Amino acid sequence: MKQFPTSQRLNNLPKQFFASLVKKVGKYIDQGYDVINLGQGNPDQATPEHIVKKMQEAAANPANHKYSPFQGHRYLKQAAADYYQSEYNVKIDPEKEVAILFGGKAGLVEIPQCLLNPGDTILVPDPGYPDYLSGVELAQAEMVIMPLREQNNFLPDYNEIPAELIKKAKLMFLNYPNNPTGAIATKEFFEKTVKLASQHDICVVHDFAYGALGFDGNQAISFLQTKGAKEVGVEIYTLSKTYNMAGWRVGFAVGNSSVISAIELLQDHLYCSLFGGIQEAAAEALTGPQDCVRELNKLYERRRNVLITGLRSLGWNVTAPKGSFFAWLKVPEGLTSTEFADILLDKAHIAVAPGVAFGELGEGYVRVGLLTSEDRLNEVVRRISKLGIFKS
Ligand SMILES: Cc1ncc(COP(=O)(O)O)c(C=O)c1O
Repeated sequence: MKQFPTSQRLNNLPKQFFASLVKKVGKYIDQGYDVINLGQGNPDQATPEHIVKKMQEAAANPANHKYSPFQGHRYLKQAAADYYQSEYNVKIDPEKEVAILFGGKAGLVEIPQCLLNPGDTILVPDPGYPDYLSGVELAQAEMVIMPLREQNNFLPDYNEIPAELIKKAKLMFLNYPNNPTGAIATKEFFEKTVKLASQHDICVVHDFAYGALGFDGNQAISFLQTKGAKEVGVEIYTLSKTYNMAGWRVGFAVGNSSVISAIELLQDHLYCSLFGGIQEAAAEALTGPQDCVRELNKLYERRRNVLITGLRSLGWNVTAPKGSFFAWLKVPEGLTSTEFADILLDKAHIAVAPGVAFGELGEGYVRVGLLTSEDRLNEVVRRISKLGIFKS
C-alpha cells in the first residue's frame, strides 16, 4: 500500500500520552490481571435518566434528522445563558455570548487557531491538561509556561513570568477546579487575572470543565463572576463531567462576544452543528433538575475521603483535592513519577497517570482519578499497603 507522507503540521503535533497509557494498561488486562484503572478522566457513572429520556424522544423527531442550524439551536444557547444566571448569577446574551461546542476540547483546540498568528505568544499552565498543547501547535504559536506550584496552591504567580513575555502574550489558558492538581481558584486570583489581562490585552480562556465539582461545601467559582471578566475572556463549559455526558460531545463557550463570533466563524467552516437530539438533551440537562449534580459531587467527595484517609493511614502524606475528580499525590522520594506509576501498575495492578505527562512541573506527582467505587478505592489502599513502600 502506498504510504502518503503526512503534513508538517501533523508531524509536529504533540504525542498523545493517554493513547500510550491505554496500551500499557491493556497489556496487563489482556494477561488477565484485575487492573484498577484510575489513570484516565472518564466518568464512571451513567448520564441521569431524564436527560437520556429527552434524547430518546428527540431522536424520534424528524425535525432533528435534518442539518442543525450552523451555529446550533437558539434554545440551547438560551439554556446555557439560563444556567449561568441560575448557577453563577452571571448575565449572558444567548445571541452574542454563547457558542455551542462539540465538547470542551473542541473549543480549547479551536481558540488558539481563531486568535493567534504563527509565532504569537500564549501562556499555558504547567502542569496542565495536555490537549492545550494540541491547539497551541495547530496555531503554530509560541508557548510560555506558567508554573503551578504547590506552595502557591497551584495558582500561577504572575510575578514569576518575565514581564516581556507577559507583554507579548495574546492568550492565556487557565483551568479551575484544576486538572491535574485538584486545586481551586480564589476570587482574588481571578481579579488579579482580569487586571493583568486588561492591562496587556490578553484574552483569558478559563477551562471550567470541573465547574460542578467543588468539595467541603465550596462551589467552584466561575471566571465570569469576576468584574470585567467578559471584557477579557471566555469560559469553556462542558456537560461531560457535570452530567456524565463525556461520550455525547457537547459543551459551550460563554463570554466575550468577539471570541464567540470567531469560534462560530471557524466552526462554520469545519462542521455543521451537533445532532439536534443531543442539543435538546443538553438543554434539558442545563435547565432541568440539578439534584443529580449535587449527588454526583457528594459521591466524588466520599470517594476522595476514602482514598485520602486510607492512604494517610499507610503513612503516605497526601493532600486532599479541593475540587475536580482527581487526587494529585506526591511520589515517594527517590522515584520519578513514571517509575512510581510503573511500580503501581506492575506490582499492584493500579493504573495512575505519571505527573510528567502534564508537563515538566508535574514531575514528582501522580494523578489518581476518583473514578471507581469506594470498595475499589479501599482495595487500592490495601494493594498499596502490601507494597511496603510507606511506613505508618
Ligand atoms: C481540564 C479539562 N478540560 C477539558 C476537557 C475536555 O472535556 P470534553 O472535551 O469532554 O468537554 C477535559 C477532559 O478530560 C479536561 O480534563
